[in-house]
Amino acid sequence: MSTNELTRQIKEEIEELSRKRNLPRHTLLMNSLHRIQEEYGYIPDFAMQELSEITGIAPAEVNAYVSFYHFFSTEPTGRHKVWFCRTISCHLAGKDQIVKAVQDRFGVKMGQTTPDGRFTFAFTNCMGMCDKGPAMLIDGETYTKLTPEKVLEILEKYE
Ligand code: FES
Repeated sequence: MSTNELTRQIKEEIEELSRKRNLPRHTLLMNSLHRIQEEYGYIPDFAMQELSEITGIAPAEVNAYVSFYHFFSTEPTGRHKVWFCRTISCHLAGKDQIVKAVQDRFGVKMGQTTPDGRFTFAFTNCMGMCDKGPAMLIDGETYTKLTPEKVLEILEKYE
């Protein structure tokens, strides 16, 4: 895969989306950005530039979307992106102990990637699982009612 331009397939997919009449601008941008992140693991600068050129949407607007939605990353991430809810219900349910167990086990802090490229850990806000906290999201899969032991067991399943 080229490291400085979008693949032909992604270009074609974005072009096809752009041609859809009445497709809301928001949907066009979000679908395109999700597809790019799925392919590259993050949103590279060149991808934002090309997305802007293909869709005719100003680079500043593309950039604003990427900055606003924290699920988009502009840096290469680990093979598995792990999000911990830091909102009040999960906090009261023991979020700090979960995060400490993970940081102690893997030797990295929230916002960092493990040296082997296996995980990137980050905080997120409420995921709608407030009555089942502490909650965590890995590659789109939600885990709830975590304990320090349980979180480490779950993470071991991800290579
Ligand atoms: S507060 Fe954590 S999921 Fe809502």
